[in-house]
Amino acid sequence: MAAKPERKQVLIVGASRGLGLGLTKEFLRRGYHVTATVRTAIHGAGLEEYYQQLTLDTLDINNPNMAEAFLARMKGHVFDLVVLNAGIYGPRDKGLDEVTAEEITHLMMTNAIAPLRLAERLALLLKPETGVLAFMSSALGSLELNANDASPLYAASKAMLNRLSRAFAAAHEYLTIVNLHPGWVRTDMGGETAPLDVETSAKGMADVLESRAGSGGHEFLDYRGKIVPW
Ligand SMILES: NC(=O)c1ccc[n+]([C@@H]2O[C@H](COP(=O)([O-])OP(=O)(O)OC[C@H]3O[C@@H](n4cnc5c(N)ncnc54)[C@H](OP(=O)(O)O)[C@@H]3O)[C@@H](O)[C@H]2O)c1
Repeated sequence: MAAKPERKQVLIVGASRGLGLGLTKEFLRRGYHVTATVRTAIHGAGLEEYYQQLTLDTLDINNPNMAEAFLARMKGHVFDLVVLNAGIYGPRDKGLDEVTAEEITHLMMTNAIAPLRLAERLALLLKPETGVLAFMSSALGSLELNANDASPLYAASKAMLNRLSRAFAAAHEYLTIVNLHPGWVRTDMGGETAPLDVETSAKGMADVLESRAGSGGHEFLDYRGKIVPW
């Protein structure tokens, strides 16, 4: 009897709710083994039936000690896909004159610096030739698309992520890297009036990431695979 093909492996960082949880469910449905990180235990997320395909781990991306311990636990793993999804919106309705140094530092650390620091280490765990590393960005971070400056602080954090990921890609030319725009999605961050549901966005992004395996290069793509201008 032919041996069963091994499951593909995906790591989702920031999987407790919203798009991270949606991507976790989508890749489980596709038969992957999913390593999903959360900050605190999640209950009632509908993952019970997949317990054989799922490894839950804990990570706050801003906590260097937790990151080191997590990376030590991941040693020896080989991932087909790594998705750095964790992110925050930052202080809502605050302008530059009101936002505190702590708030702005937390926003930039979470959305730009911590993902790049993790990428540097997690790139070593990607499957050679076909592995794909994804940063969860946003079209709001596009200087060209977001010309009217919606959500400027959040947009600046995603522009910073894009900028740093370009430098990261230049230093890691052998990798396939995708910056994703998930669309405007109904999550805690996206709000109730967003036009897209999590399932549609997650399915689209999973298709995009699978289609990039082995392609090389660095692109900014939305959940339908359309190029987003930097
Ligand atoms: N929703 C949209 O329309 C939209 C559009 C463009 C881009 N995005 C991006 O998509 C990603 C996911 O957004 P979402 O809409 O799903 O937001 P969400 O519902 O607010 O979920 C955010 C996720 O990030 C995690 N997270 C936040 N800070 C973290 C930290 N320091 N360490 C580890 N995990 C952390 C949260 O974990 P906890 O549960 O522990 O807080 C949660 O799992 C973000 O990067 C966001 O900027 C979203």
